[in-house]
Amino acid sequence: MDDVVAASLEVFFHPCAQMQDMHDLPPLDIVGAEGVWLTCRDGRRIIDGIASWWCKSFGHGHPHLLAALHRQADAFEHVIAANTTHAGLVRLCQRLLAMANGHPAARWAADAPAGKLEGALSRVFLADNGSTAVEVALKMALQAQSQWGHPQRSEFACLQGGYHGETVGTLSVGDCAMYSQPFRSKLFPSVRLHGLPERSGEADSRWLDASAEWPAIEAQLAPHAQRLAAIVYEPVLQGAGGMRIIDPDFLRRLRGWADAHGVLLIADEIASGFGRCGAMLASHLAGSDAHGPLAAPDLCCLSKGLTGGVIPLSAVLLREPIYQAFWDDYHTGKSFLHSNTWTAHPLAIAVANAVLDLCAQERWLEGIQQQGRYLRAGMQELAEAFSCCGSVRGVGMMAAMELQGFSAQERKGRQLFKAALAHGALLRPLGDTSYLFPPLTISTQEIDQLHTCLRQACRDVL
Ligand SMILES: Cc1ncc(COP(=O)(O)O)c(C=O)c1O
Repeated sequence: MDDVVAASLEVFFHPCAQMQDMHDLPPLDIVGAEGVWLTCRDGRRIIDGIASWWCKSFGHGHPHLLAALHRQADAFEHVIAANTTHAGLVRLCQRLLAMANGHPAARWAADAPAGKLEGALSRVFLADNGSTAVEVALKMALQAQSQWGHPQRSEFACLQGGYHGETVGTLSVGDCAMYSQPFRSKLFPSVRLHGLPERSGEADSRWLDASAEWPAIEAQLAPHAQRLAAIVYEPVLQGAGGMRIIDPDFLRRLRGWADAHGVLLIADEIASGFGRCGAMLASHLAGSDAHGPLAAPDLCCLSKGLTGGVIPLSAVLLREPIYQAFWDDYHTGKSFLHSNTWTAHPLAIAVANAVLDLCAQERWLEGIQQQGRYLRAGMQELAEAFSCCGSVRGVGMMAAMELQGFSAQERKGRQLFKAALAHGALLRPLGDTSYLFPPLTISTQEIDQLHTCLRQACRDVL
């Protein structure tokens, strides 16, 4: 253990960790990071196989993103967002809306003409982290329903296995007991939908067909139809709940049901968006028609890939009727009075604009889909080599499998984590779910290296 690590263990309380574990698996002492690689003080180079909590979509130290950050810092670094605006902010909102409404990349690329394009989502609210974005969306849905004259619509529905953040509100609409259990007494009740159409990915013969599961889901929703303010979900990819893939057809059906019953849809695209699922937004995988994406939500939450993991920012995109629900004379008390100090941080806005420049590059999404298939093929091969690995699945640039037949006490996932690190890859299995979620820019050769590390780790511990 080097001096920095020893000193760190005296003062730093790591997020999402049992600190006692840090003594047999000490934190890495990082001195540099470039592309998919982390460099440690002792000279080790480690592949960041989980894109640093799923946010480093363009890897570490991307020159285009850093140049945007530096340029903005030279102009001004932060101003209060309540009473100011600036050109970069306006441009980002226009581009995000165009992207989310399904316009082709050429219309929100760096050199696309300025202006607001048509589409269901029409406004952008900015915040500074994912949990807060979901909180904002929940609060907006609740307040809008009430201001439309439906104060009885005060419940939320959410999905089995869902995850939306760490605040009390987001834990209340999540379904990861490990994170929420200690706070159960303070969480509000919500309706959890079970029996979701889980799939292995696009190659699944039932892909884009949730007809078998839908009637039972609809039956769960029916008794709550008049009391729901909104349904919140991670479109297609449920991350923290175990890297589960939910059929995109479910989103189309949910859209139809919500429209018929006056319920709002909140899509949490924080992990699934910005190319991760092989589309700019995972909701787009449900298809589109002349009016835009078929599963366009009423509120769409973005973060993580929004700034390529360079700097914190989050966004909530909303439809015009929701915006109008807050428009009135000040004394009516209808304003949306939510604020965070770092909301709409200009440095983050500059980086987000630069991220969109990169996402708009030709064939960017095709590249992710192709590399993602390669990532999954390697995991499939690995699962075939080890009888205790199974349920290989994935979408876009994500591949996951289960370590089967082990008790929770064995902590096999943790053992694999430790072994993979010894072989040069930073992976953080979710319990006994092992997954690869690298930067979207990873090369074929680096994917091979990632597979090799995981294979060697499996050999050590399985
Ligand atoms: C789907 C989803 N929603 C919300 C969050 C919370 O975001 P943050 O960690 O920025 O609060 C996460 C984080 O992993 C996430 O995966």
